[in-house]
Amino acid sequence: METHRPDSGVALITGASSGIGAVYADRLAKRGHDLILVARDVAKLEALAERINRSTGRRVDFIGADLTTLDGMRHISDVLESDARITLLLNNAGVGATQPLVDSEVNRLCKMIQLNVTALTRLTHAVAPALVVRGQGTIINIASIVALAPELLNGVYAASKSYVLTFSQALHHELASKGVRIQVVLPGATSTEFWNVAGLPVQKLPQEIVMTVDDMVDAALVGLDRGELVTIPALPDAEDWERFDAARKAMGPKLSRSVAAERYRLQTD
Ligand SMILES: NC(=O)c1ccc[n+]([C@@H]2O[C@H](COP(=O)([O-])OP(=O)(O)OC[C@H]3O[C@@H](n4cnc5c(N)ncnc54)[C@H](OP(=O)(O)O)[C@@H]3O)[C@@H](O)[C@H]2O)c1
Repeated sequence: METHRPDSGVALITGASSGIGAVYADRLAKRGHDLILVARDVAKLEALAERINRSTGRRVDFIGADLTTLDGMRHISDVLESDARITLLLNNAGVGATQPLVDSEVNRLCKMIQLNVTALTRLTHAVAPALVVRGQGTIINIASIVALAPELLNGVYAASKSYVLTFSQALHHELASKGVRIQVVLPGATSTEFWNVAGLPVQKLPQEIVMTVDDMVDAALVGLDRGELVTIPALPDAEDWERFDAARKAMGPKLSRSVAAERYRLQTD
């Protein structure tokens, strides 16, 4: 068993039954968090909970919930609203797709939006007021590099992850001064079940673009400890992101004015 760290409160992790969420569960327990694990596959959650409890001594609870359903979202929102021990929400549950829009089944795309966007929004909305009252707490949102590269993979998946990035930036703007930490993580290709679910086995990707799930989560936690709002684990030069973000911010004051830009004015001669 690991040496106990000071109690860090409870971390609620969605999509904890496999992949990125399961590795975060291990790492957060080792950092002194008790855990509430959420996903649909209760047998996997139970096995993970037992393993983490045995290796870290932390308390690990789990809840089976389908976060594409209103009942599932409400159940977890109620937990987030009522359990004052929760100090960290990790919005990780998500699915992707690789097919073009016109070849995709629309109900599947809408379910993806329910999970990647609606559930993430509802759960954040449920926990944020309590964190603000306490003046501390952390929300980590798992986006994707497709938030910055919509030409890759399925467009609805990319747009759902752009939402996660934009929402996180807005949350940071609103909550940082109230003591609530926001981090949004943009993983590149990571070797998990995600790719099978999305319809493209990870083995078919060029292996130089695929990171192990352990390395990805450990890098994201370094970003958290450095106080980053946006963490892009694979990006070699942080200045690439900083320049991009600075260009966006510089445009801000020019985006809304009482007159149309010169190039859009009607020619009257
Ligand atoms: N792997 C990558 O290359 C990659 C890259 C960038 C971003 N991401 C993002 O990383 C996050 C985690 O994905 P992963 O790579 O770890 O894939 P994964 O191994 O397939 O994990 C997805 C997790 O989400 C849960 N989940 C799926 N549908 C759910 C639902 N309806 N209700 C509740 N939980 C649900 C799954 O559990 P159950 O099936 O038991 O419900 C599982 O625990 C996702 O948001 C994904 O978009 C992944």
